[in-house]
Amino acid sequence: MSKWSFCIIMLALLSIGDLKATTTNKEVNINKVDEILKTADCLVGQEGLEIAFNKMALEMNQELKDKNPLLICVLKGAIYTFGQLMTRLDFPLEVDYIHATRYSKNQGQKLKWIARPQKSLEGRVVVLVDDIIDEGITLSNLIEFCKNEGALEVYSAVLVDKNRTRAETGLLNADFVGLKIPNKFIIGAGLDFEGYFRNMPGIYVMPSDASILCI
Ligand code: IMP
Ligand code: MG
Repeated sequence: MSKWSFCIIMLALLSIGDLKATTTNKEVNINKVDEILKTADCLVGQEGLEIAFNKMALEMNQELKDKNPLLICVLKGAIYTFGQLMTRLDFPLEVDYIHATRYSKNQGQKLKWIARPQKSLEGRVVVLVDDIIDEGITLSNLIEFCKNEGALEVYSAVLVDKNRTRAETGLLNADFVGLKIPNKFIIGAGLDFEGYFRNMPGIYVMPSDASILCI
């Protein structure tokens, strides 16, 4: 290959790179992401989120104020909720994080571990903060993990409770819930589709034709 044809191919690849982002195994069309960011149907706006975070914080302040809890952010979806709660909780607490995801919605109930908490859970009151309870499998696994690590009590807090049947082994209800929503696939406020939309300041319904996002 000549020097010039190599340069032309590289330039072509770079310009395509402007339009695409590679997630773990899918290529996402950034123009479509942008379009969805601007046009998705809003289910809960910024004001609704504020009310939800205030409600959660009020209940958590009452229940946890004398428990010196360890609040664990379930990455990545809970980043948004965790940050919002932080500013509203007014009692002594420590924070940590956990990163574990379902292998796939269709592949049973095992969690893939990416990071375990750094702090010892032995004898601690632990509060797992997650974005959503859907089938309840993630949280039931994480609660079991915390108990096996010696946690004294394990609470769960989620921004969203999706109105659907839980899995057989799933957690039925979280202890602190911000919002109940119908059984739709949602994005925003930490929730993603293909790694995008976590930054949307509200909860939006993902357009039903999700494939439009991928190249
Ligand atoms: P569960 O184990 O079925 O309760 O699933 C919980 C995880 O699935 C959440 O932490 C999310 O990462 C993901 N999830 C479930 N429903 C939605 C949704 O509507 N939008 C985005 N992510 C979701
Ligand atoms: Mg998640």
